[in-house]
Amino acid sequence: MSTPAQVILAPERQIGAIDPRLYGSFIEHLGRAVYGGIYEPGHARAGEDGFRSDVIDLIREIDVPIVRYPGGNFVSGYDWEDGIGPKEQRPRRLELAWRVIEPNFFGTDEFIDWCRKAQTEPMLAVNLGSRGLDAARHLVEYCNFPGGTQWSDLRRANGHPEPHHVKVWCLGNEMDGPWQIGHRTADEYGRVAVETAKVMKWVDPSLELVACGSSNRKMPTFASWEATVLDHTYDHVEYISLHTYYGNPDNNTPNFLAKSIDMDRFISSVVAICDYVKAKKRSKKTVNLSFDEWNVWFHSRAADRAMEPWQIAPPQLEDIYTMEDALLVGAMLITLLRHADRVKMACLAQLVNVIAPIMTATGGPAWRQTIFHPYAQTSRFGRGVALDVDARSAVYDDSEFDAVPYLEAVATWDEAAESLTLFAVNRNLQESLPLQGDCRAFPGYRVIEQWSMHNADLQATNTQDAPNRVAPAKGGDAQVQDGRLAATLPAASWNVIRLAKTV
Ligand code: AHR
Repeated sequence: MSTPAQVILAPERQIGAIDPRLYGSFIEHLGRAVYGGIYEPGHARAGEDGFRSDVIDLIREIDVPIVRYPGGNFVSGYDWEDGIGPKEQRPRRLELAWRVIEPNFFGTDEFIDWCRKAQTEPMLAVNLGSRGLDAARHLVEYCNFPGGTQWSDLRRANGHPEPHHVKVWCLGNEMDGPWQIGHRTADEYGRVAVETAKVMKWVDPSLELVACGSSNRKMPTFASWEATVLDHTYDHVEYISLHTYYGNPDNNTPNFLAKSIDMDRFISSVVAICDYVKAKKRSKKTVNLSFDEWNVWFHSRAADRAMEPWQIAPPQLEDIYTMEDALLVGAMLITLLRHADRVKMACLAQLVNVIAPIMTATGGPAWRQTIFHPYAQTSRFGRGVALDVDARSAVYDDSEFDAVPYLEAVATWDEAAESLTLFAVNRNLQESLPLQGDCRAFPGYRVIEQWSMHNADLQATNTQDAPNRVAPAKGGDAQVQDGRLAATLPAASWNVIRLAKTV
């Protein structure tokens, strides 16, 4: 047992209200995310629309509030008009971002229908790579204008008399990246983004728009990109995006589990840049953050490099996640919650088959990957306001992050439901961590349940044959006595301790 870690649970330690869209996700036309993932006509669990109900059941279990679509890198070469109208007339296209063939059997209308069935909101990205302002404004007209114009009437003719009411839109994707179709400099992108934003809002003033930030914190243009893009777009957008993926290719688990500190620094820097531009412009408006791609991604890289190009929906980016990946995903969720005042949307990238919490076998079952569990538990229990718990614990040395605390933690409080949840990761690979909490500021609150997920084998995975090898187990020693919480967090574990007012 190591030195006890300390937390404080108090209502006045509020970080901010948690926007439910913090638990968003992402479906790209990539690999088997759409075809063989959410959409598989003929599958035993698919309806007439081709939507797999077993996949929808798992998505509802997570309670995903918003899903970004259709990309990703894909969107920068996408002609959205290819994906509407009679399916037999839709073109097959060379898809250059992922070197496949796109059959366009699934497009905007199918995605909106699927969202309604999955009880989630759409977040659409427009193509600012190979296309631009015109295609974007027409797509907004197609989706959101009631009728009586060319594009809105086409939607009606395509079987959707009511507008889709898509509120959140991304102005392109990763436009700072040389890999992007139509990659631009910050000034070039800033100009295109502001002009596109302007006319999209002329079509529908209720839109919420996301400008592209950096593809990760290591990009050479990071920080100056955000400052320049916001200089152009500040008055016309509500959010700037952040993306990041981490991996453990060198098998350095202590360093890997500390990567959430990089995410934390990334968020703090982007908040500072937003506020710098706000000050420069003497603006009253605050631009918030949309962390609309984040995850672990590295397991599938070699397989993807070996893939034969120009297939339809081949397996791509099919990372099989381990116990340790789930720990980092848990720490990243905690990091997002610790910035709930400014990170208002986030999308775990992605949702099904492609670097995803949910896997399917084409023609077979669907199951939960290891990372499903911290994601589902934070989404289900982490609503209300986020509380800074002032976590204090012993630290370990790391050459990249210096002193890394063993404990990563945050709490959420749902005042109306009188419930409080502590989320915690113990990064100590060898020893369990005793936890002591001061919760005197929540009189009458008691532990109602405790969940913990750990496995002696940090490389343990969930597979079609063993779908529940890594899953949270209910139980533990957490208890509150005289306003003091005491619990034990097992070595290398993800933990959820739920308290509620019982008297
Ligand atoms: O999510 C996979 C890819 O990662 C996306 O297409 C792209 O935006 C990012 O580089």
